[in-house]
Amino acid sequence: MTDYDVAGYARRFVTARALSPELRQVWTGALARAAGTDMRADVLDLGAGTGRFGTVLRAAWRAERVIAIDRSMPMLRQMRLADANLAVHADMGALPLRTGSLDACLCSMVLHYSPDPAAVCREIRRLLRPGGVLCVRTGAQETIASFSFLRYFPAARRAERSAMPDRADVINWLGHAGFADVVVEKVRTPAARGHWRYCRKVLSRGFPSLQLVPNVEFVVGAAFMILDTILHALLCRPIPPEETLLVTGVAV
Ligand SMILES: C[S@@+](CC[C@H](N)C(=O)[O-])C[C@H]1O[C@@H](n2cnc3c(N)ncnc32)[C@H](O)[C@@H]1O
Repeated sequence: MTDYDVAGYARRFVTARALSPELRQVWTGALARAAGTDMRADVLDLGAGTGRFGTVLRAAWRAERVIAIDRSMPMLRQMRLADANLAVHADMGALPLRTGSLDACLCSMVLHYSPDPAAVCREIRRLLRPGGVLCVRTGAQETIASFSFLRYFPAARRAERSAMPDRADVINWLGHAGFADVVVEKVRTPAARGHWRYCRKVLSRGFPSLQLVPNVEFVVGAAFMILDTILHALLCRPIPPEETLLVTGVAV
């Protein structure tokens, strides 16, 4: 499993996974569609990492207070003031918040780290006021192939295959936790603006699954990726978009 506390990793995550203005716009739109038009004043960003979704949540949900929870101190330390009103070092299995204290919650790329994601969803439901929404942003078996860098790094691909849920699993987590009106949107986002930017992003090794690739495999994969990048750039091939599921349920 990726170790988010490893020295230097949080910084690499910021470099590799920063949201461009274009991505921020796509996710603001998707999260606004998912949660409807109500204002969501108190929002939890669970497994917030470096807080890259904080400003998106303020824009999409008109959030007044964003609480960021993560179990990695090095990731939380990368946050800027604008990313969260409160950063809390805690595990998603034991959330230190009051019942009915939230209007919405985002779990972005985190629930697959829990041994019991349905129990985490139940706990989130307890924290939400009636009508509150939970949005789960996640990779899934059906979206793995859209992350084209994975073809160069088999160990990373295997790790994603064994960790990522099926769409039906995520729907069941929310359903069993008592969320109603569960809907799924497959969100397509540009991988990068240009082949070389994409290559640099990947080779900075900030994608979580790349931490699990042995060094020799990483060097070999990087060499093949650079060769392909030259070829694709010369032939002006488009970079395929990446796909992510956004699964939303309403607390009743
Ligand atoms: C892939 S990162 C996603 C970060 C952020 N949500 C984003 O999309 O940029 C996964 C994050 O989940 C956190 N995490 C993993 N297991 C956790 C747990 N049991 N409780 C709280 N946070 C956890 C990690 O520390 C890491 O910051």
